[in-house]
Amino acid sequence: MSALPHPHTATDSELDIDSATAARARLHSRYRELPGSLPDGLPASWNDTLDTLLSHRSVRSYLDQPLPAGALEIAIAAAQSAPSSSNLQAWSVVSVTDPERKARINAVSGKQRQIAEAPLLLVWLADLSRLRGIAGSLSHTADGLDYLETFLLGVIDAALAAQNAVTAFNSLGLGSCYIGALRNDPATVAAELGLPPEVFPVFGLTVGVPDPARASDIKPRLPQSSVLHREQYESSVRPDDLSRYDSTLRGFQAEQAMPSVDWTRQLSQRIGTVAALKGRDRLTEVLKELGFKLK
Ligand SMILES: Cc1cc2nc3c(=O)[nH]c(=O)nc-3n(C[C@H](O)[C@H](O)[C@H](O)COP(=O)(O)O)c2cc1C
Repeated sequence: MSALPHPHTATDSELDIDSATAARARLHSRYRELPGSLPDGLPASWNDTLDTLLSHRSVRSYLDQPLPAGALEIAIAAAQSAPSSSNLQAWSVVSVTDPERKARINAVSGKQRQIAEAPLLLVWLADLSRLRGIAGSLSHTADGLDYLETFLLGVIDAALAAQNAVTAFNSLGLGSCYIGALRNDPATVAAELGLPPEVFPVFGLTVGVPDPARASDIKPRLPQSSVLHREQYESSVRPDDLSRYDSTLRGFQAEQAMPSVDWTRQLSQRIGTVAALKGRDRLTEVLKELGFKLK
């Protein structure tokens, strides 16, 4: 497989400085500040794995190029290297490259440009069908599959696997973007992909060679103090963190020429109404149609 430039590689000046400084630079990119509780002088070391993880950004603009040979197979091996609950491996993935099939899936996903552009769309599946088939072939019951717990297990397994693939693609210089929007209409996606009962498309993932002319940057996250609780959950809302984050994200939006909107407002719109769920409010019903019992 030909080597691709790493889209997230530290700049030369970052690479020249010692690893603790490079590490702090990466941490700073993620938060636009350093975690307040990070002791001076730490972290003492840095490595490529941390660099790849902290450099993540969703990529929505791709070159008109296929993936390098072998990239998919390596990423799926990384996905299969993820932990799996009881090693049930309750997930599968469908690789879609046919532009017409992609377009039909895109039609239920709000017609997102990156789906049209990406040479590859991976659809990650919570797959209880394989487990039921295997139990059946051994003349076993599979009553445990009928519960919400096992559906959740499949979704968790699929998500862990997919995120390993995302990191593997990043490390190969490829970019990706999750597509949760295909859950607007999972039944149509299931029919399009010929999914048997008890297989649920959890999300899609567009993958391709990032277009350097339309590069995305690292999107800052909430201050660490808002998500890291020690021993017991503290307050869920830290007003200082939130006002800092609103202003940090506005800065990011300005740099990226994105519409300027506070994160707190954005999230309120996203969770404010049933209409904002864009059809996903029917999910319990649709899952039952897809054969899940969710007891
Ligand atoms: C499960 C999931 C579903 C997502 N669905 C979409 C989507 O349908 N369209 C999209 O453009 N981005 C989607 N995203 C990407 C998020 O918008 C993105 O991860 C978030 O804004 C943070 O930006 P970053 O990934 O660049 O750090 C999704 C992310 C996740 C984890």
